[in-house]
Amino acid sequence: MSETPAERPVGDLSREQAAAELDALAGEIAAHDSAYHQDDAPLVDDAEYDALRRRNDAIEAHFPDLIRPNSPSRRVGAPAAAGFAKVAHTIPMLSLGNAFDEADVREFHARIRRFLGLTEAEPVVLVGEPKIDGLSVSVRYEEGKFTLGATRGDGLEGENVTANLRTVASLPETLKGKAPDVLEARGEVYMQRNDFAALNRRQEAAGRKVFANPRNAAAGGLRQLDPSVTAGRPLKIFLYAPGELRTPIAETHWDFLDRLRDWGFPINPLARRLEGADACLEFYRDIEGRRAELPYDIDGIVYKVDRLDWQERLGFVSRAPRWAIAHKFPAERAETVVREITVQVGRTGTLTPVARLEPVTVGGVVVSRATLHNEDEIARKNVRAGDSVVVQRAGDVIPQVVSVVVGKRPDVSEPFKFPELCPQCGSRVAREEGEVARRCTGGLICPAQAVERLKHFVSRDAFDIEGLGAKHIKAFRKDGLIASPADIFRLHEKSGDIETRQGWGSKSVENLIAAIRQRATIGLDRFIYALGIRQVGQATARLLAKHYGSLADWRRSMAAAQDPESEAYRDLVDIDGIGPSVAGDILAFFAEAHNRDVLEDLVTLLTVGDFAVPAATLSPLAGKTVVFTGTLENMSRGEAKARAEALGAKVAGSVSKKTDYVVVGADAGSKARKAAELGVAVLDESGWAEIIGGGG
Ligand code: IVH
Repeated sequence: MSETPAERPVGDLSREQAAAELDALAGEIAAHDSAYHQDDAPLVDDAEYDALRRRNDAIEAHFPDLIRPNSPSRRVGAPAAAGFAKVAHTIPMLSLGNAFDEADVREFHARIRRFLGLTEAEPVVLVGEPKIDGLSVSVRYEEGKFTLGATRGDGLEGENVTANLRTVASLPETLKGKAPDVLEARGEVYMQRNDFAALNRRQEAAGRKVFANPRNAAAGGLRQLDPSVTAGRPLKIFLYAPGELRTPIAETHWDFLDRLRDWGFPINPLARRLEGADACLEFYRDIEGRRAELPYDIDGIVYKVDRLDWQERLGFVSRAPRWAIAHKFPAERAETVVREITVQVGRTGTLTPVARLEPVTVGGVVVSRATLHNEDEIARKNVRAGDSVVVQRAGDVIPQVVSVVVGKRPDVSEPFKFPELCPQCGSRVAREEGEVARRCTGGLICPAQAVERLKHFVSRDAFDIEGLGAKHIKAFRKDGLIASPADIFRLHEKSGDIETRQGWGSKSVENLIAAIRQRATIGLDRFIYALGIRQVGQATARLLAKHYGSLADWRRSMAAAQDPESEAYRDLVDIDGIGPSVAGDILAFFAEAHNRDVLEDLVTLLTVGDFAVPAATLSPLAGKTVVFTGTLENMSRGEAKARAEALGAKVAGSVSKKTDYVVVGADAGSKARKAAELGVAVLDESGWAEIIGGGG
């Protein structure tokens, strides 16, 4: 294409061109709306989004008879901002690790065998279930009556959607037969494809928002504040996992599903018991072949260890169980044309090249941009503006450019040149030794980085400030109302200024200030995550919070750990899940005076709660540091470590004065000697078994 429609003045468009462009814009804007409102994951920045809407309005002004009933101009923007009550999950709602190919599935099996120390002869039985592409919820029944339903949220805290779940016809209000006093189960709310199509037809006829795919429609339905609106959205549910149970109700997952079925819950009829990796793979291929015939969308297969006692022994790694895995179906693909390649600046200054595409539908979603990852990727794939490319998307992952259709390359095209200067602030762009990413060196003088950091700071899994969205952050920063994160907690001093801004009134400002005040008390893990340190996501933030307990301790320790010879440094890299690379980024954050100032400023305005050690506080190992050495006979090293951590201990790799116990197996070497030197308590395997409660 010689000229992209977006560049053509509206007055020069023919009727056909105008109609075609309105069509494309409607699809594109709808996809952005759903990404923003349903998934809380915008695909474009606000300026870009606004430009699309302005273009739509301009074309409509010229061709009023082409205005579509579902035109973006007729749809109202955001859903109500006020929220649902929060629900803390007694048992966290976890996610799953992924397997993408046969080798991953075999490794999953091998890992289970190693962890449990099984002999070759002992079979591992799993249950395979379709992975439903919907949203997970937790439902609670007391004395057989449905009492509480919640969304997953961040896994620890979700939203109370009880009233909405009562509109899901297949979810029983009262359980059949004799059910336990308290029964909590987890499952997936979804919408069937035919119901989705009918819903969109109704929406379109009524001039309302159409949904990009059944998952978004289900999510939108469940998150309605008015349950009568949810009732008009035909939602369904499958149950597939236990939540809080006061009494054990089965010995295997298979029997657990049976019991749920007897009590009247919908259970996916395609679930099968499978013995070994080959049977799993065969099941996967079978379901994949029938995928198109199923009435609902699935995005893979979940395999779960059948024996619940094994599930318990296997436990969890950070936020996913060791006893289950999601084997994903291959990503959906489509071909389109790259309009141009632009470069985006992220929160930590990383420059990410992005392909701007002719909008194309991939697996039910309109895609207009795809990530090109980094400089090396562009060179490797040799992607150029004007190229025809194959794009793919899998689940919620950002669409990617897979390959170039070389035969379709235009006669004249040029390889992409990576900018030497940051497109946002003009600072020099650096590429560190051994890294693929190029980074803007502008730090906080770079507006893109500053805005992205602030957006991250208030985002859902961080400070979660209701009513302070990306748009406001950007506008407030531009107009000097906020510069650093701490300024958010001083916004009440500027209430007057905000009130006079377009779109604000005294009530909305009052709500915003109240929402901010409410978040001035925050847990340590969320606080750490909110800081946006490179490589410190939610899981790592939790590890740090758990390890250091309080903000004061963490800050002190990070100051001390600047010296790589220090014990504080060793302590940091010894945390399971934090290696030298992550530690390096954390310490780099603390090495910057500017960051320390921001922290200092924040602590004067906020109350950061100490990390509450869950449940295990009464265990004899709570807060203790344990080192394992040598070969244990009755438990693999992995299992021993997992048990210790579940009981609230920290497991370290080396012995120091801070070590409380060294557990010594056969052929132990220097660590046992060092323990003796330092006078640390040494346990043999039976002593260890006694501490963790017989078993082992
Ligand atoms: S089991 C602790 N089973 O997939 C394990 N999850 O990627 C709990 N999902 O958050 C999950 N179908 O929302 C399980 N048959 C199934 C599932 C399923 C869909 C979703 C669920 C979970 C996500 C993880």
